[in-house]
Amino acid sequence: MNVLVLGSGGREHAIITSFTNSKLVNKIYALPGNGGTSTIATNIQGDVNDFKKIKEEVINNNISLVFVGPEDPIVNGIYNFFKSDNFLKNIKIIAPSKLAGQLEGSKEFAKKFMERYNIPTAKHGAFTKENIDQSDAFLESMNPPYVLKADGLAAGKGVLIIDNLQNAKDELRSMILDKKFGDSSSKVVIEEFLDGIELSCFVLTDGNTYKILPFAKDYKKIGEGDTGLNTGGMGAVSPVPFLDNKFLEKIEERIIKPTIHGIKKENMEYMGVVFIGLIKVGQDPYVIEYNVRMGDPETEVVFPRIKNDLLDLFNSMGSTEFEDVKLQIEDRHAATIIMVSGGYPLDYEKNKIISGLTEETDSIIFHAGTKKVDDNFLTNGGRVIAVTSLSENYKDAVKSSYDQIKKISFDQAYFRKDIGFDL
Ligand code: AMP
Ligand code: GLY
Repeated sequence: MNVLVLGSGGREHAIITSFTNSKLVNKIYALPGNGGTSTIATNIQGDVNDFKKIKEEVINNNISLVFVGPEDPIVNGIYNFFKSDNFLKNIKIIAPSKLAGQLEGSKEFAKKFMERYNIPTAKHGAFTKENIDQSDAFLESMNPPYVLKADGLAAGKGVLIIDNLQNAKDELRSMILDKKFGDSSSKVVIEEFLDGIELSCFVLTDGNTYKILPFAKDYKKIGEGDTGLNTGGMGAVSPVPFLDNKFLEKIEERIIKPTIHGIKKENMEYMGVVFIGLIKVGQDPYVIEYNVRMGDPETEVVFPRIKNDLLDLFNSMGSTEFEDVKLQIEDRHAATIIMVSGGYPLDYEKNKIISGLTEETDSIIFHAGTKKVDDNFLTNGGRVIAVTSLSENYKDAVKSSYDQIKKISFDQAYFRKDIGFDL
């Protein structure tokens, strides 16, 4: 079977790498892919939101399964586009429906969903220009720090955590009235601040049965000690050392089961991954957010630990076979370290030659923002390379990735040197 993976990050390179280990896969295509995917798959130029182009490519390349990496095409309804097209409706697409996409596409939609199924999450209020005059009183009723979230997709940048009440009131106005985050902040959710340690939970579901994939912990801040601006993610480890059976059971009973139940009850049509961003407060799990796709860089530590044939696994979804699937998970721990362009997550330069990628290694080098030009790999984004290693414990895995990353270089490269520091 031929497969197509949509997206261009480290996540997509990791998924494609897992597909290369499948006995059932014939050819792999990436749209648009990156420098790394070009070495193990065929890159197709194009935009992940150009559904007509994707349809053409599916037909021309005899694709049987499409895996959708990023959230944008999901929130824009790529699943529904496939299901309402006479030709595409028989192609397997690993992505949830447009309605389910709202779990990520609208913070308020997600909050209301959690309320309906009693899923533990921070208390909240939602404000637009219509009820903005009530926002001051709402903020005054909360304790600092104040968490303000743009309702819509904002590429992980739409969340502000503010200590001072007056600043929070002013920022809320700037988000709604001055469109600080564009249209995504025309509605703002104000949340109670939850104090704890975060972890990422991934549930593969066809809307009926579910399988819990390995957990991971990512490091979102640019600076060491979790300081500075938020990024897409600077590193990750899997499994999560502080996740014991008792805590896992609470997550499954209080969060995963009611989430899947809600998806089913509301006929959301789900064929993919529910990514539940969790926070452990005391001994209890709370949901920070839902995403409707895999995380990046979490994929770079989760998928190398899944030993099942990936195409077999995805093909079983939607049939009774999925219930019988047993996930085979690698015992070893995985760690990934992300190398980014200097200046990221603000402005940065591209087109720097990357050296040291060809050396023999036991680590796995996933490309993110790279492109291949002649015989060189050039930087082509903020997050450039993810170096993943597997070992008996997370400390050794982290160390192996650092040993490897020191051999890779490009002008103004930066990476955090403390991944795993808090575990
Ligand atoms: P989100 O886009 O909702 O995942 O938020 C981005 C980041 O902001 C999260 O990963 C948390 O670190 C932080 N955050 C979001 N909501 C809260 C909250 N209610 N309490 C504490 N931190 C939060
Ligand atoms: N690493 C977090 C995310 O993918 O949203």
